Amino acid sequence: MSTPRLALVTCADYPHLFEEDAPLIPALAERDIAAEAAVWDDPGVDWAAYDMVVIRSTWDYTARRREFIEWAGSVPRLVNPPNVVRWNTDKHYLQALEDHGLRVVQTTWLEPDRGYDKRALHNRFPAREDFVIKPAVSAGSVGAGRYTATDANSRRYAIEHAMRLLNEGHSVMVQRYMPQVDVHGEIALVYFHGTYSHAMKKAAELTDVGEVATADGFETEEMEVYKATPAEIEAGQAALAFARARIPGRSLSSRPLAYARVDMVPAGDGEPVLMEMELVDPRLHLPLGRQALGRFADSLAAELRMGPDAANIDLA
Ligand SMILES: Nc1ncnc2c1ncn2[C@@H]1O[C@H](COP(=O)(O)OP(=O)(O)O)[C@@H](O)[C@H]1O
Ligand SMILES: [Mg+2]
Repeated sequence: MSTPRLALVTCADYPHLFEEDAPLIPALAERDIAAEAAVWDDPGVDWAAYDMVVIRSTWDYTARRREFIEWAGSVPRLVNPPNVVRWNTDKHYLQALEDHGLRVVQTTWLEPDRGYDKRALHNRFPAREDFVIKPAVSAGSVGAGRYTATDANSRRYAIEHAMRLLNEGHSVMVQRYMPQVDVHGEIALVYFHGTYSHAMKKAAELTDVGEVATADGFETEEMEVYKATPAEIEAGQAALAFARARIPGRSLSSRPLAYARVDMVPAGDGEPVLMEMELVDPRLHLPLGRQALGRFADSLAAELRMGPDAANIDLA
């Protein structure tokens, strides 16, 4: 049998992969898989020529979500699958997790077609403490800002920020600023085929009130090694069980996703609160997990061997 070919998908800003993913190529070579980088919107790439196509650092999709989803649907053997890409690239999925009984950061949703005036926005912001305004389609913190509820000026900036996002056609999320993120940090747990691999702790991104984060979010992430508690590992697994069985186009018999990252805030009372679930293009911080690179390479090799998951129904 000839050596299987695998594409690791990136964006034009990182045509040779993001640095922490580059060692995947030799690690896959050790497993007799010929992997190479490919840019998702490069019209010269023949996706059908690969035995499997794995999304890694496609971070410029957020401004072009429709195009990205269309691309995902056109790739014959995509990991994670296109249904997951469609579902997970808009944070409205957090509503589904919450409806399912999972503990999620409390969110007020503002939709672009509602024609809110300034007063209507003001009335939807919290009365106390700090809060966050962010777009429902985002990555790398881009477009997120932190405001102080009791400060009239800060509230005014928040209204302007929300109005700007709404006028650009974005759905907007309003959340209470979780103070644990400043005290403790946000935690991110990585799973390969549903099995916990490693975790890291990420320093607060929104340290300054009034500042809206811009595009360098991915590179400036401050991460350190973290040892997740059993409750945290379980909370992530509950979210993944949802992803396995409830995402449109998947079923109870779908196989666990080859890779996943679940981000959460360690709550004061011990039960973590989900911030987001990254099933498309999460940084996995492989160097922070002992043998995490090998585990990811093994998981991709297994995924390749198993062939397409017949329990995924193509909804495109
Ligand atoms: N409700 C919140 N409380 C505290 N920090 C927040 C909150 N929402 C966002 N942040 C900060 O902003 C960052 C980016 O927000 P997140 O929802 O994770 O979007 P992205 O998809 O861009 O990563 C988080 O990692 C965190 O540091
Ligand atoms: Mg995040």
